[in-house]
Amino acid sequence: MASATVAVCDEGVAAMSQPEAPRWHQPVMVREVVSLLAPADGDLMLDVTTGTGGHSVAVLPYLGAEGRLIAMDRDAQTLELARKRLAEFRPQVEFVHESFAHVARCCQVMGVTGVDGLVADLGLCGLHVEEAQRGFSMIREGPLDMRMDRRQELTAAHLIERYSRDELTTLLRTYGEERWASRIAGRIVETRRRTPILTTTHLARVVAEAVPRGRGSTRLHPATRTFQALRIAVNDELGCLQALLKALPELLKPGGRAVVIAYHSLEDRMVKQMFREGAQSGVVTPLTRKPIRPSASEIRENPRSRSAKLRAIERCPTPPGPCGSCSA
Ligand SMILES: C[S@@+](CC[C@H](N)C(=O)[O-])C[C@H]1O[C@@H](n2cnc3c(N)ncnc32)[C@H](O)[C@@H]1O
Repeated sequence: MASATVAVCDEGVAAMSQPEAPRWHQPVMVREVVSLLAPADGDLMLDVTTGTGGHSVAVLPYLGAEGRLIAMDRDAQTLELARKRLAEFRPQVEFVHESFAHVARCCQVMGVTGVDGLVADLGLCGLHVEEAQRGFSMIREGPLDMRMDRRQELTAAHLIERYSRDELTTLLRTYGEERWASRIAGRIVETRRRTPILTTTHLARVVAEAVPRGRGSTRLHPATRTFQALRIAVNDELGCLQALLKALPELLKPGGRAVVIAYHSLEDRMVKQMFREGAQSGVVTPLTRKPIRPSASEIRENPRSRSAKLRAIERCPTPPGPCGSCSA
C-alpha cells in the first residue's frame, strides 16, 4: 500500500458531498483516488479522463493558489460540463479536448515536463449511457454511434454494416470475450441481408435472438458483451490505453503518482502488466499490491462502480541504479 497518503480534508469531503447535478457522472472511489494521489500545495495534476469533473473537483482544493490541473477528455460534451462545474477554479484549470493516447505530445506542446499526479478513470461516463443519441445504451433506442469523440468518422454502424462474419466474430471474441461470438456474428450478417440494423435496440434484439435461451449469463443482458466489444473497437480503447501506459512513467515527476481505474478485465490486465514491468525495471513503485475495489456501500449507492479496479504507482525518486533496482 501507499507509504504516504493524505487524509481527505474537509474541503475535499465538501466538494465530494455537494449535491450532484443530474447530468454529472457519479465518480468512483473518490476518497481512494485523493488519498493515493496525495495532492499538495502548488502541485500540477493531470486528469486524463475528466468526464464531468468528479475527480478533478475533489483534487483541486488541495492544490492551493499556485497549483494547476490539466483537465483532458476526448468527449467535447462531458468536457463542456466539467468546464461549468470547475468554473470557480478557472484560472488554475486548463481544458484539453484530446485523447489521452496523445498525452505526451499535449504536455510537450503545453511546456509541461512532468506532473505530480495523474488520474485515469477509464471507460464511459454516465451521460454516454443515459443519452440515447450517443448510441451506447442497449435499452434506449438510438443510432449505432458509440463515438466518444464525435470528430472521428468510424461509428458502430460502420462495423455492423461492413464487417464480414469472420471479422465480427473476431471482434466479439477479442473485445467482448463473447462465448457466442460466431452465432451472434452469423445472425447479424443474416439479418442485415434482409433489413439494415440501424439502431441500438434493434441490434440488442438481434443479439438476444442469437444467444441460446438460458445459456447466457442470467445477470447480464445478452447484448452486454457485444456492445462492449463494439465500443472498444470504435474508440480504439485498448490502443489508447497502451499509449497512455507507455507514456506514463515519463510524464510523472520523480515521486509523482498515477491512479488508474479499469472497468473490465482487458483493461485491468494491461494496467497490471505495464505497472509490473515498470516496477521490474525500477522506474516505478506499485502503491497497490492488489487492485482496490469499491466498498459494498459504494456499490449499493452507485451500482456502476461494481466492476471498478483501481491500481496506483509512484515514479521512483531517482533513476534506477546499475542493478536496475529502485532506491525507493
Ligand atoms: C468514467 S468517465 C470519467 C468520469 C470522471 N472521473 C468524473 O468524475 O466525472 C470516463 C471518461 O473518460 C473519457 N475517455 C475515455 N477514453 C478516453 C481517451 N482515450 N482519452 C481521453 N478521454 C477518454 C470519456 O469520454 C469519459 O468522459
